[in-house]
Amino acid sequence: MEKFEFIIVGKKYDINLAKNIALLHYNNIKYSFMSSLGLNFLKVFYKFILSDPFSITIIVKVNEDFGGYVVFNKNVSTINKRFLFYLIRKEFLSFPQLLIPLLRNIMESLNSFFYPKKLKINVECELISIALVNKYRNMGVGKKLVEVGENILKELGVKKYKVLVYGDEELYKFYRKIGMQKMGTIELHKGKISTIYIKEIK
Ligand SMILES: CC(C)(COP(=O)(O)OP(=O)(O)OC[C@H]1O[C@@H](n2cnc3c(N)ncnc32)[C@H](O)[C@@H]1OP(=O)(O)O)[C@@H](O)C(=O)NCCC(=O)NCCS
Repeated sequence: MEKFEFIIVGKKYDINLAKNIALLHYNNIKYSFMSSLGLNFLKVFYKFILSDPFSITIIVKVNEDFGGYVVFNKNVSTINKRFLFYLIRKEFLSFPQLLIPLLRNIMESLNSFFYPKKLKINVECELISIALVNKYRNMGVGKKLVEVGENILKELGVKKYKVLVYGDEELYKFYRKIGMQKMGTIELHKGKISTIYIKEIK
């Protein structure tokens, strides 16, 4: 019998957590720009996320194994700036190496860096990413992860949040099922239209 445990990640977390999250993202959200920057980049990004005071991360453990995660961030308009400072302060030695994939995709990187301004939707909180290990999907676990996250956001006074979805028609159904409403689309990267969903937290 599988035992699902939903855990809100606090300041003290397992050192391997960022790696587990990065790996799950890399293997399952392949069409995302972040994945195209490589696994090492994602590992550093999630290390930053876990240390960022504006991030809310919930993981699901299944019989002690890592089963999946959701990450929200309640201050996205400056997240890229904070990430850049984090890279300079904490990843000083690997910074030049991390810059390589960014420079290789310079236009997309710049678009990603400035997208919160381009979006023109005044919703500061965003569901950054969510993924589950394949065998735990379609059992209501994703929905539950989001629910746990929403309860925390509510306690923090957050009234609504958004998500940007790109590349997978099927995925739209999940976001609609969890009560999100389509607000429009944005061409974040040339030729790649993302759909913006918003949900009011009740
Ligand atoms: C997206 C994801 C987290 C959904 O989690 P999940 O646990 O499988 O979803 P749930 O079982 O909680 O589904 C909730 C509802 O959405 C529907 N749904 C979920 N995934 C769906 C899909 N791919 N297509 C159609 N409907 C879907 C379910 O049928 C369910 O409907 P119901 O409430 O009427 O029963 C999971 O499929 C996943 O990890 N995907 C790969 C990573 C990814 O693409 N992440 C999103 C990008 S940020």
